[in-house]
Amino acid sequence: MKPSRFLLLLFVCMVMLESRADLPGTWELLVEDARIASMHTAVTRFNTVILLDRTNVGPTQTTLDPSSKSDCQIDPEHPVLKPGCYSQSAILDLNTKKVRPLFTTLTDTWCSSGQFMPDGTLLQTGGNNDGYKKIRKLIPCEATSSCDWDELEDTELAEGRWYSTNQILPNGSVIIIGGRDAVSVELFPSQGGGALNFPFLAEAEDIQTDNLYPYVHLLPNGHLFVFANNQSVLYDYTNNVVLKRYPVLTGGPRNYPSAGSSVMLALKGDYSTATVVVCGGAQYGAFHEGKTDATARRSCGRIEATAENPVWEMEAMPFGRIMGDMVILPTGDVLIINGAEAGSQGFEMASRPCLSPVLYKPDESMGLRFVTLNNTSVPRMYHSTANLLPDGRVLVAGSNPHNFYNLTDKFPTELSIEAFSPDYMSPEKASIRPTITELPEKIQYGGGFDIVVSGKFLEVGLVEVNIASAPFATHSFSQGQRLVKLAVSRSSSAADMDGGRLHTLTCTAPPDGRVAPPGYYMLFAVNMGVPSVAKWVQLLER
Ligand SMILES: *[C@@H]1O[C@H](CO)[C@@H](O)[C@H](O)[C@H]1NC(C)=O
Ligand SMILES: *[C@@H]1O[C@H](CO)[C@@H](O)[C@H](O)[C@H]1NC(C)=O
Ligand SMILES: *[C@@H]1O[C@H](CO)[C@@H](O)[C@H](O)[C@H]1NC(C)=O
Ligand SMILES: *[C@@H]1O[C@H](CO)[C@@H](O)[C@H](O)[C@H]1NC(C)=O
Ligand SMILES: *[C@@H]1O[C@H](CO)[C@@H](O)[C@H](O)[C@H]1NC(C)=O
Repeated sequence: MKPSRFLLLLFVCMVMLESRADLPGTWELLVEDARIASMHTAVTRFNTVILLDRTNVGPTQTTLDPSSKSDCQIDPEHPVLKPGCYSQSAILDLNTKKVRPLFTTLTDTWCSSGQFMPDGTLLQTGGNNDGYKKIRKLIPCEATSSCDWDELEDTELAEGRWYSTNQILPNGSVIIIGGRDAVSVELFPSQGGGALNFPFLAEAEDIQTDNLYPYVHLLPNGHLFVFANNQSVLYDYTNNVVLKRYPVLTGGPRNYPSAGSSVMLALKGDYSTATVVVCGGAQYGAFHEGKTDATARRSCGRIEATAENPVWEMEAMPFGRIMGDMVILPTGDVLIINGAEAGSQGFEMASRPCLSPVLYKPDESMGLRFVTLNNTSVPRMYHSTANLLPDGRVLVAGSNPHNFYNLTDKFPTELSIEAFSPDYMSPEKASIRPTITELPEKIQYGGGFDIVVSGKFLEVGLVEVNIASAPFATHSFSQGQRLVKLAVSRSSSAADMDGGRLHTLTCTAPPDGRVAPPGYYMLFAVNMGVPSVAKWVQLLER
């Protein structure tokens, strides 16, 4: 071969190798050792992140200072936890990246559920052992203050809730659905009368359960879309009746322990329709038969949950994935991240971590919706989480496929916390990134309000204003996750002092709690696919 030919070939090879590493998105290490593996993760309106593990995991790495509290030993009778002074929960300050252990002695939060209340309080329910019927609250505070968990002593759940799902309702109550051996729903605050039977969950159960941590989406028609195993229903929780049964989703079971994931796509327009997507999952029997190398499913089902006669539209992801997390980005695209390419959900049940995040672009046509993103180097399998941050990045935490902490296994208990930056945060897009300079602290249902946005290359008329809830992420599903695109009716602009322009956008808040339940949301301005840093607004009744 002529030397010039060889050089050309070398060049082509290098370009090819380069392009493999050139997939969109970047990773950064936020906290090298958080000293806790977050099984449940939630972002608060103070830009802090609540990290929560279970108490019967054995000692975590987070030791507390015994002198600060007379008794920080969790239940000395506990069958697993050795007497000691360990924290099972912590709070991360996104500004300083400092992790503060939370002190309050908790009962067991293993595979529990949660949801933010309208006033911003994190409600956290159930778990295992002594935590089975427990209700806990954390009222978030400024990062420099010292808020902590409070376990309610005067009230408990009507039923034990282990692997249940919470969803905030239009009136601000929270519904708690299902759980192991809990074929029922209940409300917080309790309206008396205990739990209501919900036989659908029993119908969806099979030999390996597959009906745990059901996927629950509050539709804009005020009813709940509830998905378990391969079945789903339209559920009228007010009258405790199933209004509709959707067609069975083919391609195997999707809920614990066969973990796929699910989102309701962004609500927009006149909010009359809602589309649900369910992606990935284990092969049937992988859990029951302990097949850790059974290839995970690539299939995604997508259904218009509000249609008269909806059908599942099937698509294939670039990778099979179990235990993925689906995160709705401020643009309405969905990030699918974390998980494994084989096995099922549970201790020591998976192999082949899926290191590639994937972007799902719902507005593209079939076949063009998936984009493979830049690989991580950190396997995040069972008990890992992903949460949207107010600056548009995605916080990725946890992974502990073992019963106890094991820092030396091939898939160790993962104490690091990372942030994934989607392509919209790349330096080339910085110039079109808008900045919110003014907005109200509170917005009311159906009410108009103005925000002021600055930016040099703002496409007035195309700028979106979108509000994102802060969900409770656990076990590959973000409870209460939603994105609502607001109507932007008018905009006017004026020059700012730096030669850029200030744009006043008149927006309309969601019409009611069915479209967006009351509470705190991250409000993003999105310019040509690039979101601003969000500011928190509280959505209230008039
Ligand atoms: C992929 O992520 C790594 C960090 O994990 C980063 O060094 C690299 O630049 C990223 N690739 C692109 C194309 O951004
Ligand atoms: C909220 O809605 C639920 C379900 O319809 C209802 O049972 C409950 O009483 C309502 N809560 C309040 C405080 O009105
Ligand atoms: C739905 O799941 C059940 C229980 O796992 C299974 O027996 C049935 O064949 C599945 N149906 C379809 C259409 O995949
Ligand atoms: C990314 O990770 C997957 C495993 O999830 C692996 O198959 C693939 O080769 C990796 N890609 C690159 C470019 O390293
Ligand atoms: C951690 O995992 C390694 C490798 O699987 C195993 O040999 C070791 O016993 C485990 N350690 C603990 C404390 O379980």
